[in-house]
Amino acid sequence: MSKSTWLKIGLTGGLIVGISLLHYLTDPYEMELHAVHQRLYYLPLVLGSFWFGIKGAAAVSISVIALYSPYVIYHWQGTFHDFETLLEGGLFVFIALTLGFLVESQKKEHAARIEAERLAAIGRVVSEIAHDMKSPLMAIGGFASQVSRNLPEDADSNNKLQIVIQETRRLEAMVKEMLEFGKPIELVLSRTDLNELAEKTAEALEPVASKEGVKLKIEPDRSLPAMNLDGAKLRQVLTNLITNAIQACAAGEEVLVRTRSSDAEALVEITDQGCGISEEDREKIFQPFFSTKKQGTGLGLANVKRIVEAQGGKVTFHPNKDKGTTFVITVPLDK
Ligand SMILES: Nc1ncnc2c1ncn2[C@@H]1O[C@H](COP(=O)(O)OP(=O)(O)OP(=O)(O)O)[C@@H](O)[C@H]1O
Ligand SMILES: [Mg+2]
Repeated sequence: MSKSTWLKIGLTGGLIVGISLLHYLTDPYEMELHAVHQRLYYLPLVLGSFWFGIKGAAAVSISVIALYSPYVIYHWQGTFHDFETLLEGGLFVFIALTLGFLVESQKKEHAARIEAERLAAIGRVVSEIAHDMKSPLMAIGGFASQVSRNLPEDADSNNKLQIVIQETRRLEAMVKEMLEFGKPIELVLSRTDLNELAEKTAEALEPVASKEGVKLKIEPDRSLPAMNLDGAKLRQVLTNLITNAIQACAAGEEVLVRTRSSDAEALVEITDQGCGISEEDREKIFQPFFSTKKQGTGLGLANVKRIVEAQGGKVTFHPNKDKGTTFVITVPLDK
C-alpha cells in the first residue's frame, strides 16, 4: 500500500477514535454536546466512502458501531433520545453504504470512459502509422520478389532476399493487425454455431500446433444452440487465443478448446499447459502493444477484448491449478 493510502486510513481511523473518545470523556448529561459528536461521525464516513468506496463505507460503519455502541448500551435509559440515537445509527449505516456504492460506480464509470478515450486515441495513431507503412511495405515485398525471381536460386544474394521477403511479410501482417485495431467494430450478425467455429479454427491451426509439437484437442458441447453472432470476428478471436495458447506451450504440452453453456451464456474455454502469466503481467496483457514475445505486436488480446465486448460478451482468464492458463470467452445466449 502506498504512503498516501496509509495516510487516508490513518486520518479516517483517527477521526473515528477521536470522536468516540469525545463521547466517552464528555458528561453523559451534556446532551447537546453528544448530539454534536454524533453528527461529527459523518466526517469520517464521507472521507472513507470517497476514498475507499463501499469497502471504506463498511469499514467506517463497523468501526463506529464497535466503538460507540458500548457507550450507548452503558448509558441506555430507554428515553426518546436513546431511540433517536438508534434510529440515527440505522440511517448512518444506510447513508454509508449508499454513498460508498455511488462513489464506487462513479469511479468505475470514470475509469471506463478514460480507458475508452485512451484506446480510441491509440487506435487513431496506430491506424495512421499503419496506413503510411502499408504501401512502402507492399512495394518492398513486391520488388524483392521480382529481383529474387531474376536471380539464380542458389545465389547468396537470393538467400538474403528471401529473408527480406519473409520479414516484409511479417511486417505486413503486423500492419494488418494495426489497421484492424484502428477501425471501429462493425458487427455482421448471422446464425453462428460456436462448436463449428471452434472446430474449424482448431483445424486451421493444427499445422501451427504440430510444428511446435503441441497437441491441440477440442471438446465441443453438442447441446449448445446456434446464436446470433459475428462468426468471422469470433473466428479471429479464437485464432488469437488458440495461437497464444500454442505459443505459451513447450513441445509435448496440450491445448484444449472446450465449449459449454450455462443458464444464459455460452462459453468457450481455451486451456493450455504452458508457461502461465506472471502476477505482474496479469493486468497488462489486454493493453495494446503489451507483448513478452520477441516477434509479438501485442495487439492480439486488445483486439480479442474489443470484439468480444462489442457482442455483449466478456473475456477473462485464470491460472490453472497445475500449470498454464485458461482463457474464457462468454457470450450471452439469444433470448
Ligand atoms: N495463453 C497464454 N499463456 C501465457 N501468456 C499469454 C497467453 N496469452 C497471452 N499471454 C501474454 O499476453 C501477452 C499479450 O498477448 P497478445 O496476444 O495481445 O500479444 P502477442 O501474442 O504478444 O502478440 P500478437 O499481437 O502477435 O498476438 C503475450 O505477449 C503474453 O505475454
Ligand atoms: Mg497473440
